[in-house]
Amino acid sequence: MSVLVTGGTGFIGSHTAVQLAQAGEDIVIIDNFSNSKPEVLGKLKTITGKEMRFYEGDIRDGTVLDKIFSENAIEAVIHFAGLKAVGESVEKPLEYYENNVGGTVNLLEAMKRRGCKKMIFSSSATVYGNDNPVPFVEDMSTSAINPYGWTKVMIEHILESVCASDPEFSAVLLRYFNPIGAHKSGLIGEDPQGIPNNLMPYIMKVAAGELPYLRVYGADYDTVDGTGVRDFIHVVDLADGHVAALRYARAHAGVEAVNLGTGKGTSVFELVSAVEKVTGIKIPYEVVGRRTGDIAICYADASKAKRLFEWKAKRGIEEMCEDSARWALKNKIL
Ligand code: NAD
Ligand code: UFG
Repeated sequence: MSVLVTGGTGFIGSHTAVQLAQAGEDIVIIDNFSNSKPEVLGKLKTITGKEMRFYEGDIRDGTVLDKIFSENAIEAVIHFAGLKAVGESVEKPLEYYENNVGGTVNLLEAMKRRGCKKMIFSSSATVYGNDNPVPFVEDMSTSAINPYGWTKVMIEHILESVCASDPEFSAVLLRYFNPIGAHKSGLIGEDPQGIPNNLMPYIMKVAAGELPYLRVYGADYDTVDGTGVRDFIHVVDLADGHVAALRYARAHAGVEAVNLGTGKGTSVFELVSAVEKVTGIKIPYEVVGRRTGDIAICYADASKAKRLFEWKAKRGIEEMCEDSARWALKNKIL
């Protein structure tokens, strides 16, 4: 039996493919390369020593999904494929609903045609919205403040409905906090196109001298040093969380939302200092106004993942910064 990884050449999907392969899973990947590159496939082979079956295609295309399901015995789907830029989702909401929600419905229909009843879904801490107190706990209410976030809330509801309609279906909704870092080999990592929106890729471009300085979006929050606080998690820890979630889904039917975070918050200034410490490079910055839609503090209650999956994040902030920098260096970003 095989595991289908949608979006498997992307940032989190590629790291998860490595951890799954190393755990002995047989993997099939589908990606349309809308936000990743074909070179990743060779790198996955170099790291794991295994050939992964790959289909270049779109999850909105039922024909390619039927081909995958007929050529492989797919037992479970780990579903990363989706668009993820918050700002772009405000400008192009229909693209986000069509790709993320429409694509997931199409994928679930293909799974239904083949009797595949396990899905691990890439949700996000963004579903906790702006009004819940930290730490975020899985049974809190969900909402969103932009189309990207609404696609995650909607897909969570769709999977709840699927599980309610079919007592054999198992869906794990993994709510990721802020993944950074990269594989130790320096071969795979986050490779955003254009000017990055997220903090760590932006810091790496500043360290490389490609961008002049970091804009810190607000230093007047009620936090340790006034800057925003996030739960940064090493992408390899996050990937291991998927291996654990798959094990759980094999043993349990029904729907479960589970946070994948460290349970610890780090401020923007603290992250900048950690990068400066491990690289020896000064990161110039300027404090500017708050970014619309940002919350002050976001971190997980990580106890459910430990209880259900026997998983917890192991890698600290310095290791995350070292690995991000190694990846940037190897790829001549730094
Ligand atoms: P990514 O863009 O690196 O990976 C997504 C992959 O999916 C890309 O390789 C892209 O080419 C592919 N893809 C997109 N639409 C597709 C389609 N219709 N058909 C086939 N392939 C398609 O993003 P990532 O950071 O690896 O995120 C993976 C998932 O995790 C996404 O669903 C994202 O929303 C979610 N997530 C990410 C973060 C984060 O900070 N990175 C946080 C929370 C949730
Ligand atoms: N920040 C800056 N300058 C920048 C970029 C970010 O100061 O150039 C600050 C932000 O204001 C925030 C913190 O750094 O305080 C983290 O910002 P990111 O953009 O890296 O991450 P977010 O927490 O805003 O959002 C990310 C993903 C979302 C996801 C969310 C929760 O982009 O898709 O984590 O998982 F929903």
